[in-house]
Amino acid sequence: MADALVTGAARGLGLALVRQLLDRGDRVFAAARGGSEREALRESKRAHPDSLMPIALDVADPQSISDSVGEVRKHTDKLDLLINNAGIAGEHGGNSSTAPEPLGRVEQRNSLQVFAVNTVGPLLMVQAYRGLLARAKAPRVVNITSRMGSIEDKSSTGYYSYSASKAALNMVNKILSRELSPEGIVTIVVHPGWVQTDMGGSHATLPPEKSAAALIRLVSALSEKDSGAFFNHDGSPLPW
Ligand SMILES: NC(=O)c1ccc[n+]([C@@H]2O[C@H](COP(=O)([O-])OP(=O)(O)OC[C@H]3O[C@@H](n4cnc5c(N)ncnc54)[C@H](OP(=O)(O)O)[C@@H]3O)[C@@H](O)[C@H]2O)c1
Repeated sequence: MADALVTGAARGLGLALVRQLLDRGDRVFAAARGGSEREALRESKRAHPDSLMPIALDVADPQSISDSVGEVRKHTDKLDLLINNAGIAGEHGGNSSTAPEPLGRVEQRNSLQVFAVNTVGPLLMVQAYRGLLARAKAPRVVNITSRMGSIEDKSSTGYYSYSASKAALNMVNKILSRELSPEGIVTIVVHPGWVQTDMGGSHATLPPEKSAAALIRLVSALSEKDSGAFFNHDGSPLPW
């Protein structure tokens, strides 16, 4: 049985990924702030009592990351798939006539929190789970980035912290791919599309179920040569 861990698992894209990984027969460590206290995870647990393992995890808290590894190790000695999905857009501080987080409204506290969750969190997760990943047959790390982190593609203003945190995540992924390739660990960044979640809003084009299905298809087709790549959800490459 494949073992998968998804962060930010109790709502949005993370929850859709958890449900579809369960449907395909994986054992899923659903990592979320509040763990088994989250109603969406309790519900999934009732439907999949043996294969869903809710785990308490705050990706901005190194102790919580380390504790989560201890919890996962109680059930398995390997991890086949780590999906670093948790992410925040941060406080925008704009209004309807300005771009979100315009110049003049950038705040250090907000910016650092966005980087802690979107960039440093995924890096610390891979560092903490490296041992378990290295024991899987074909380990995969999927870092959910955003097209807004593409420097080449950037045409809009605002969203300084979010866009920069995802560009930095893309770099983190590239370095990880170089370091972890010898251990057979494939690590990618992928833009999930514009998804109808709390973050994406109701005007977004993709329901979370469709985005999750596309991401799982992409992961299933990955090979070692893909490590380090920046993909769109449909598997096409995105510019850095
Ligand atoms: N929606 C889009 O259109 C879109 C586009 C491009 C990229 N993305 C990326 O896709 C990923 C999922 O986003 P989404 O659309 O599902 O957003 P969402 O609905 O706002 O959900 C965000 C998720 O991240 C979790 N999270 C936030 N801070 C956390 C922390 N410190 N520790 C652990 N979990 C934390 C949240 O958990 P809580 O429930 O505990 O708050 C929630 O599960 C993010 O990385 C986002 O940047 C989304």
